[in-house]
Amino acid sequence: MAYEITIRKTENSRISSLDVENIGFGKIFADHMFVVDYDGKTWTDARIEPYGNMELSPATSALHYGQSIFEGMKAFAANGEVQLFRPIENWKRLNISARRMVMPEIPQDLFMQGLNTLLDLDRAWVPAADGCSLYIRPFLFATDDFVGVRPSEKYRFCIFCCPVGPYYSKPLRVKVEEDYSRSAPGGTGYTKCAGNYGASMFPTKKAQQEGYDQVLWTDPVTHKFVEETGTTNFFAVFHDKIVTPELDETLLAGITRNSVIHILKHLGHTVEERKLSVQELKDALQAGELKELFITGTAATMIYLEGFGHHGTYYDVIANGNHTISNQVKDLMESIRYGRGADLFQWMTRVEAMNEVPA
Ligand SMILES: Cc1ncc(COP(=O)(O)O)c(C=O)c1O
Repeated sequence: MAYEITIRKTENSRISSLDVENIGFGKIFADHMFVVDYDGKTWTDARIEPYGNMELSPATSALHYGQSIFEGMKAFAANGEVQLFRPIENWKRLNISARRMVMPEIPQDLFMQGLNTLLDLDRAWVPAADGCSLYIRPFLFATDDFVGVRPSEKYRFCIFCCPVGPYYSKPLRVKVEEDYSRSAPGGTGYTKCAGNYGASMFPTKKAQQEGYDQVLWTDPVTHKFVEETGTTNFFAVFHDKIVTPELDETLLAGITRNSVIHILKHLGHTVEERKLSVQELKDALQAGELKELFITGTAATMIYLEGFGHHGTYYDVIANGNHTISNQVKDLMESIRYGRGADLFQWMTRVEAMNEVPA
């Protein structure tokens, strides 16, 4: 279905102030945003507006009861085109979150048209420099101004974009977390609801105060099995196989994780998706069989870990390991994303030219 999207362009483009050398992560916003409202029955008033503040009632229910979900995805400048990485997967996951949070699902055509129209208009914001990309933030939140606890009737879906460089600038040290849980059986761990991230901040801050960069979550029942890190999935490279925690309701099914598994298998590696205990990591490290740990996510892309802390002891993995596999996967992933090599798995979607080109 074709949606009508009204376009109001900015009169003060900020593109000339974009300093690609110093973009950092998530502080600079592209000129426009896509907005569409759900009135309780249908999606209405789809529009592109200049990026800017929104007026909301103090009673906006998302602020009180947390019906608020989001996605994170990226577009890349590739051979003069703008290419989106696996956008349909983000659309599907957004709707998985929506169902759990009793929010309306976004129709695929609305998601893709909004995205394409926005990115076509802001294509100059996709940085071409190596390691840079346009981070895209689709999000949906409840807009009823009503202070009773029940699912909102009205919602707003928006997309805005940030030109970004690397999220992490160095390999990380993670703390195996056993006192706090990010999610619970029957909970919302497999969704990208805002509350998951709010709840993770206290344990993460504690880990950082102890000298770590991030938390490595363990399963919420026994705390024996590793699950994922802050906003990334986790991989361990053993001498003869690569293991990543199996998916279940307590962790997020990363799109990068899935892509990395495809690439690893394509490169001929053995990949096991199964439970992975902290003890297994420690034993393999001691036996000289643990070669590498790395994490994957849209924002972080792929980064290897220096080591992990457990019960106050630091286990240095990189000292006797390497980062061969994560580098190998990253190279192939980047050659696909930046169009330097073939799109082996048909992951890239070109942003079509829709808006008129200024004379
Ligand atoms: C909790 C969590 N785990 C893993 C990931 C990695 O997912 P993806 O590769 O789709 O970005 C993210 C980021 O979205 C996340 O927030």
